[in-house]
This record gives sequence, C-alpha cells and structure tokens, in this order.
Amino acid sequence: MMSAANDILCYSGIVTSPMKVFAVSDLHVDYRENLDWIDSLSRDRYREDVLLLAGDVTDDLRLLGSTLRALKSRFAEVLFVPGNHELWVDGGEFSCSLEKFDAVMSLCSHEGIRTGVYTKGCVSIVPLLGWYDFSFGQPDAFLQRAWRDFRACRWPAEFDSQAKICDFFLRQNDRYLSTDNVHVISFSHFLPRLDVMPAAIPEHRRKVYPVLGSARLDHQIRKLQPAIHVYGHSHVNQAIEIDGIRYMNNAFATPKEARIARKELVCIFDTEAVPSVLAGENRREPA
Ligand SMILES: [Fe+2]
Ligand SMILES: [Fe+2]
Repeated sequence: MMSAANDILCYSGIVTSPMKVFAVSDLHVDYRENLDWIDSLSRDRYREDVLLLAGDVTDDLRLLGSTLRALKSRFAEVLFVPGNHELWVDGGEFSCSLEKFDAVMSLCSHEGIRTGVYTKGCVSIVPLLGWYDFSFGQPDAFLQRAWRDFRACRWPAEFDSQAKICDFFLRQNDRYLSTDNVHVISFSHFLPRLDVMPAAIPEHRRKVYPVLGSARLDHQIRKLQPAIHVYGHSHVNQAIEIDGIRYMNNAFATPKEARIARKELVCIFDTEAVPSVLAGENRREPA
C-alpha cells in the first residue's frame, strides 16, 4: 500500500494522515471573554486537526453562525451537537424548539460543520443527540421554577413530557450505533450517566441532576462501544473510565466558573501519540 511519508499505517491496514482530535463544550460565547478566547486561537496550529464541539455555544443563531465559521477556519473539521441553549426560543424568531433545531442543523450544513459520523482512516467519530428524561431523578419545586429550559424551550403538543423530547433525539442516534472502526469516539452534549459526576459535588448543587441527561443515552453508548465518550452540559470537568469507556468533559463554561473549567482545548486523541494506533493494542477488530 502506497502512503505519504507522514502517513500512519493502522492495525487494520488503513493508511491515515496524522491527526489530533480536540474537544470542548459549553463555549457560551454570549460572554465577551469567551468570544475573545476563540479569536485568540491560533490560525495555523490546528489545520490538520478535528474539533469536537459538544453543544451550548449560544442561543443566538447569528452568533452561532459566526462562531462556527471562526472555528471552521482554524480546524480541518469541526463536529457539533446542539446543546439545550441552542434550542431556546424565548425572545427570538422561532416559535418552536424543533423548528430551531432544524435551523441549527441547516446552519451547520451551510457552514461545513459536521453533524453526522466522520471517519478518517482508522478513526470514526460519532455525534449523539440527547436531552434529559428525569432518569437521573425528579426535579424539585426549586428546579421546576429555576431551570430556564422549562420556559425558554417550546415543543409541539405531542411532546408533553421531557421523556418524549429525549426519545425524539435519541431515536436519531440509532442509525449511528453500528459504526465500527479501529478507534471509535463518540460525543454528546448531555450526560449519559450520573456517576461521571465527581463525588465531591455538594448536596445543594445536585438539585440540577434530573436535567443533566439520560441513562438511555448510555445504553446507546454501550451498544456503540467507543473508546472515548465526550460530554458537555455539566460544566464540571472530568475524565473517568467506567467499564472500559473513558468519559470526558472539557467545558469552557462561564467566566465565573474559572475554578472548575480548564479554559483551554484538550487533545483527546492523537494518532501519533497513541501507541495503540501502530501496535494495535486496545484497538477494536475492524469489521
Ligand atoms: Fe452549558
Ligand atoms: Fe447545557
């Protein structure tokens, strides 16, 4: 098999160019400081690399468009899943969050941002949509009042529970769950399981747990069996291995959350730095 000097021969025999995968979520660029950070990112350093953007960029569609453009101009590929903030419709031009979801996905397509499975050589990256369904607990009266999604999102009449909203998004993942490659990475905005949250989280902060995600999302991840799953939404950075899958969160978060967020891109996968790419260790048998 012919390959360029810098290409890497995977265990599977597939030739792939060197590539790093970076991840970040919860950019919340409505904060000027966060937008300034994107402007400060190198325009040269990431040209061969992939960025996983795990939701909550902004609820402002125009600002979402300019942010995605700014990132796409720096990376070879940008992959995105919407977060809950992208689906807020209060005060905007959309009357329904589903209508806005369609507009967000169209915007991504227009800007060259990937929202489906991306494969390069022996690496496949799978975006997983989601929502919360209260499988992590029931919201108390405080959360019912305070959680902005309950006022800022609007859904069609048949979506009369959070579980039905969640079901709508999870069903769209089904087509990707048989993705197979030597290295599979998945990412979502919402949490697939509650035990990724650090044990040190104080009791009063656990009130938000019911709206963090869905256990059904983890059932899908278990079917897919990625080596790494990146999630956002919690704004609590984490890297923890559970039953053979490395769950990672790298939220940029709000300026006030400087103590719990790294405020930098994290490289989660590097074809040159991971010996398994060459040696075939910890790899999946290609189908
Ligand atoms: Fe967020
Ligand atoms: Fe979120």
